[in-house]
Amino acid sequence: MKRVFSGIQPTGEPHLGNYLGALRWWVDFQRRYDAFYCVVDLHALTIPGDPEELSKSTLTMATLLLACGLDPDRCTLFVQSHVHYHADLTWLLECTASMGELSRMTQFKDKAQKGGEESARVGLFAYPVLMAADILLYDADLVPVGDDQRQHLELTRNLAERWNARYGQTFTVPEAAIPPRGGGARVMDLQEPEHKMSKSAISDAGIVFLFDDPKSIERKVKRAVTDLDPPGPGAVRWDPAAKPGVSNLLELLAAINGGSPEEVARGYEGYAKLKSDAADAVISLVRPLQERYRELAQDPGAVQAVLAAGARKAEEVAAMTYERARSAIGLLGS
Ligand code: TYM
Repeated sequence: MKRVFSGIQPTGEPHLGNYLGALRWWVDFQRRYDAFYCVVDLHALTIPGDPEELSKSTLTMATLLLACGLDPDRCTLFVQSHVHYHADLTWLLECTASMGELSRMTQFKDKAQKGGEESARVGLFAYPVLMAADILLYDADLVPVGDDQRQHLELTRNLAERWNARYGQTFTVPEAAIPPRGGGARVMDLQEPEHKMSKSAISDAGIVFLFDDPKSIERKVKRAVTDLDPPGPGAVRWDPAAKPGVSNLLELLAAINGGSPEEVARGYEGYAKLKSDAADAVISLVRPLQERYRELAQDPGAVQAVLAAGARKAEEVAAMTYERARSAIGLLGS
């Protein structure tokens, strides 16, 4: 059976992009593959944050993942820092990656620019190497992620291939499993539809958080930026370059209700109905997740127990891969 690995950062509130681009595919993949899913708390240390918040948000994220439908009987769910091999393998891979290739990572460039390049943490620069270690430790064949992680996956493949060529066959070379067109691979900000919906956006107005109440969702979706084309045949069409706002709403509806964005567009002539249908679809999508979250959050001990069992299982697999890598690169065994 194919192996799947993916991760999500615990920082910032999870949003619709995370769910449509990644989490719902995780739920689907656990039924078909041997799936490992991870709350990547070490990645959260790459930008400034409050230590107390981090442990809380790690538990919140794990609870939310269960609320989304991850089933501990079907997948291994754990916290990255609970399995020390992630950090251990990162060092070996850092001695495989080059400064040049990491400097070309667009996420590093964006984030470093926002916070000032001089003060960017070394961990932010090395971020994609930790991500490669996450994936390679589990011999993952498939990595379900949104479109924004494409470049990181390419780097992971390059590192695995370089290592295998240099030190002998050690790692499985993984493939990105990015949702198909109309599947939510790149959900855009409702206010700035040229930019992806992102936890690090300056304003919340264009982001639908999974914990938003129905009123806020309705307000955000109804205020989504579209354009000034008059209503009528052809005004509502799938055309991301010319009509990014409208195309994003069509993508949302297609991703939630099924069908292609073009098919969805055929049902509309004006923006008001498109927006109210999109708002309704999002509200019905998040309502059961929120209810389930509230139930699960009553018993944090049970969530911690799932994470502890997950870490034990993950560690068994990670230990074997790390041992292979350690020996291939010539480190003396203990
Ligand atoms: P993170 O925490 O930013 O996002 C988690 C997942 O959500 C997807 N995503 C989106 N999909 C569609 N539209 C959007 N607007 C949108 N925004 C986010 C992301 O692509 C991701 O799949 N580096 C990763 C975490 C990570 C990881 C890994 C992933 C660490 N190690 C190993 C896979 C494998 C990240 O920051 O995701």
